[in-house]
Amino acid sequence: MARQAQIGVTGLAVMGSNLARNFARHGHTVAVHNRTAAKTRALVEEFGHEGDFVPAESAREFVAALERPRRLVIMVKAGAATDAVIDEFAELLEPGDMIMDGGNAHFEDTRRREAALKERGLHFVGCGISGGEEGALNGPSIMPGGSAESYRALGPLLESISAKVDGEPCCAHIGPDGAGHFVKMVHNGIEYADMQLIAEAYDLLRKVAGYEPAQIADIFRKWNTGRLDSYLIEITAEVLAHTDADTGGPFVDIVADRAEQKGTGRWTVQTALDLGVPVSGIAEAVFARSVSGHAELRAAAADLPGPERPELHPDDAARFTEHVEQALYASKIVAYAQGWHLIQTGGEQYGWDIDRASVAAIWRGGCIIRARFLDEIRAAYRGGQAPVTLLTDPTFGEALRAAQNAWRHVVARATELGVPAPGFSAALAYYDTLRAGRLPAALVQGQRDYFGAHTYQRTDKDGSYHTLWGGDR
Ligand code: ATR
Repeated sequence: MARQAQIGVTGLAVMGSNLARNFARHGHTVAVHNRTAAKTRALVEEFGHEGDFVPAESAREFVAALERPRRLVIMVKAGAATDAVIDEFAELLEPGDMIMDGGNAHFEDTRRREAALKERGLHFVGCGISGGEEGALNGPSIMPGGSAESYRALGPLLESISAKVDGEPCCAHIGPDGAGHFVKMVHNGIEYADMQLIAEAYDLLRKVAGYEPAQIADIFRKWNTGRLDSYLIEITAEVLAHTDADTGGPFVDIVADRAEQKGTGRWTVQTALDLGVPVSGIAEAVFARSVSGHAELRAAAADLPGPERPELHPDDAARFTEHVEQALYASKIVAYAQGWHLIQTGGEQYGWDIDRASVAAIWRGGCIIRARFLDEIRAAYRGGQAPVTLLTDPTFGEALRAAQNAWRHVVARATELGVPAPGFSAALAYYDTLRAGRLPAALVQGQRDYFGAHTYQRTDKDGSYHTLWGGDR
């Protein structure tokens, strides 16, 4: 009998190849398959020495190479290609077998696929994988959804190839059906917000404090030794320190200022709107990318007047830098608080029972937002009573208390000087909205009752009320 593989990977573009190599490097026998067989042959030729690969030319051969119950990982283009490949393999599999989709699927697609395959006795595991190509090869953060039974079979393999932090794998069963892809989506939304906040910090340090990119790189390197220690701060310093080979100038100055997106940030905001969760920090980050791409709009508005810019004293620049660090940290707490609120609400809405401490734990390594900060979030949700919001966790609450004056100052300066800081501003507005005793939402209710008889509730007694407003409406 031919060699049996513990796991199979179909779809051998870079992510799929790297994941297959990662399994092989960890001692698993891996069946590999690709629609175009040349890629399968190329993988085994180039990397066959790294471990035990079983190349399969056809889908049937691929399925036959897997030990039972079969564990089959799909790494093809998200969308129609994923459905086509699932349909093809579902025909060849038997009850109890597992199909894992490691692509960036929308969690609603994952829910649909899981339900359809369950009817055929197959386990479908929508699995978020973060860390890009490098992570897939050397240890990603892995967020599998699907049944607990499928995790018992797949979990040990996934844990073996995931990133490790303090000896713990950055992989945990998130919850049933689409929970894994949902959490991966929120990860990406938070990533958008984090990147935007860091970009705003850079912009303020440059335009308000007057530092050059190389100096800002040094500031970020210093920040990276403190509470902002994270992969994103680290790579930002590298990008800012980089000199363009053609011009000899800062690299950041020759890059077109149009940020692109593949859509997971947008999905996060769309989902948050559907679930009624205010994720304003993430939304501003998505909109900031969007507005950056509107060349015509920006050109048309380029001559609109801005404020006069008073020169800053160099001493102010150093102090301002400290304030920006505070503002960045505080805004980051808000963005993550909003992300965790969305995870909580999604978990409740879809009955996933997501362990929010565990999400923080598996994002400490392998993924783009990996950071020391996530240890604190894990601690906030571990044991005892979970905070209603991260903002009121004792550790984060204290950080916000200490940062708030500096945070206000930075947002005020940005506003005065006409430097856009939508992420910092939205985060501060969220903070102030939550802490405000009363909101003008009362007036909005009054307006709604006036024009639409939508009724309102009172602060002093129960029930719904409508006022007979004057005029013939
Ligand atoms: P890339 O990542 O290189 O841009 P892609 O078009 O996104 O490529 O496809 C990624 C993987 O999905 C490839 O393994 C591709 O198979 P081929 O090498 O044969 O192109 C696979 N893929 C895309 N559409 C597919 C489909 N309908 N059926 C099977 N595999 C498909």
